[in-house]
Amino acid sequence: MADQIKKPIKITETVLRDAHQSLIATRMTTEEMLPIIDKMDKVGYHSVECWGGATFDASLRFLKEDPWERLRKLREGFKNTKLQMLFRGQNILGYRHYADDVVEYFVQKSVANGIDIIRIFDCLNDIRNLQTAVKAANKEGAHAQVALSYTLGDAYTLDYWRDIAKKIEEMGADSICIKDMAGLLVPYEATRLITTLKEATSLPIQLHTHYTSGVASMTYMKAVEAGVDVIDTAMSPFALGTSQPATEVMVETFKGTPYDTGFDQNLLAEIADYFRPIEEDALGTGLLNPKVMGVNIKTLLYQVPGGMLSNLVSQLKEQHAEDKYYEVLKEIPRVRKDFGEPPLVTPSSQIVGTQAVLNVIAGERYKMITKESKALLSGEYGQTVKPFNPEVQKKAIGDKQPITCRPADLLEPELDKIEKEMAQWKEQDEDVLTYALFPQVATDFFKYRAAQKTKVDPKAADEKSGAYPV
Ligand code: CO
Repeated sequence: MADQIKKPIKITETVLRDAHQSLIATRMTTEEMLPIIDKMDKVGYHSVECWGGATFDASLRFLKEDPWERLRKLREGFKNTKLQMLFRGQNILGYRHYADDVVEYFVQKSVANGIDIIRIFDCLNDIRNLQTAVKAANKEGAHAQVALSYTLGDAYTLDYWRDIAKKIEEMGADSICIKDMAGLLVPYEATRLITTLKEATSLPIQLHTHYTSGVASMTYMKAVEAGVDVIDTAMSPFALGTSQPATEVMVETFKGTPYDTGFDQNLLAEIADYFRPIEEDALGTGLLNPKVMGVNIKTLLYQVPGGMLSNLVSQLKEQHAEDKYYEVLKEIPRVRKDFGEPPLVTPSSQIVGTQAVLNVIAGERYKMITKESKALLSGEYGQTVKPFNPEVQKKAIGDKQPITCRPADLLEPELDKIEKEMAQWKEQDEDVLTYALFPQVATDFFKYRAAQKTKVDPKAADEKSGAYPV
């Protein structure tokens, strides 16, 4: 065989973010992360995804942790590895559109506290919703990666992906990620998609997928052969199922090929040994449901992300309408079509899913229409790839004129107002952003934090006595 050009595949490790978000509802604590980051730092990862997505909300709400503090501790430990976060465009890490000043300030503080790579996406792939965050990341010297929410449908042709990739390059992004949150990208389609993107742009291409439908590691293999630059994987105890393919497996797959990562399997084994008891513990408490570890073929049949399926089951249970499950599954693609065929990812997945449930339970389509559906059909989330169904839009918003501009253009700067509102809780600049995103959850957390302060901290006392090495 002729000498092939070496092109080691780069790896983003997701065990500290997406993997535990996908498998154990984002409940891994900072305490659980810190003892292993020294070893993780020696692997040679392209980056470690460790922040953003649901980690911010879950830290505050369930773990009573300051997410900024977590980031600073991770930054301190990862001396050689780039830290990566997931950022929801104009939604930041929340669920509504924020004014540009909040988006810019959040990017600034994320970078200042240790983030190197910001992966920015929009649930409608409306790139106007990415502009502010991309520009802010450029300004702060961070790597701005734009993630395209991958989905299937008439509108999502190879031409669509080619055109949008070019626009992203023009926008000033440093790389492109295909974000396949539902595991819909099958292996041979990955060949076509990656080949198309590589022709369209000179930006590095990263692929992010989930194992939900069982094809993910084969998809990675075809994507790597087609020239993809980076893949997202998770250490084996938190891999597979609704999470990513396993790091060790992908490393072994490419050993001795031009794509060889050069990673040390013994070191990876030590890291896996560390995470395994955390996985076993989660299985024991029921936090990790063995059901999510299997292959969910319904996700391919109905093109619905795994997380959305589990949400659906609990919504129907609440309404004592579990028998309507399959009816709702069939209604989801219809609602999606009426709503301009958006990708299904937070928050569009919740909006479409909830509306589909209402349509079935009410026994009449669009008899009840949620506030969020109305907002989407008013253009408040941005532009969808296909037009809305005009009848459904009329039913939802009547004669109200829909928005056609970038939604954030209608928002006044709001940072000063937010800061005034939360002034009594402010201990660090970042608290303003925490409050901006989740006012109620943040207030509860600030109260908790204040209460903790009045308790005696035995460690602090020891530090003063010099018992702890500095
Ligand atoms: Co993901």
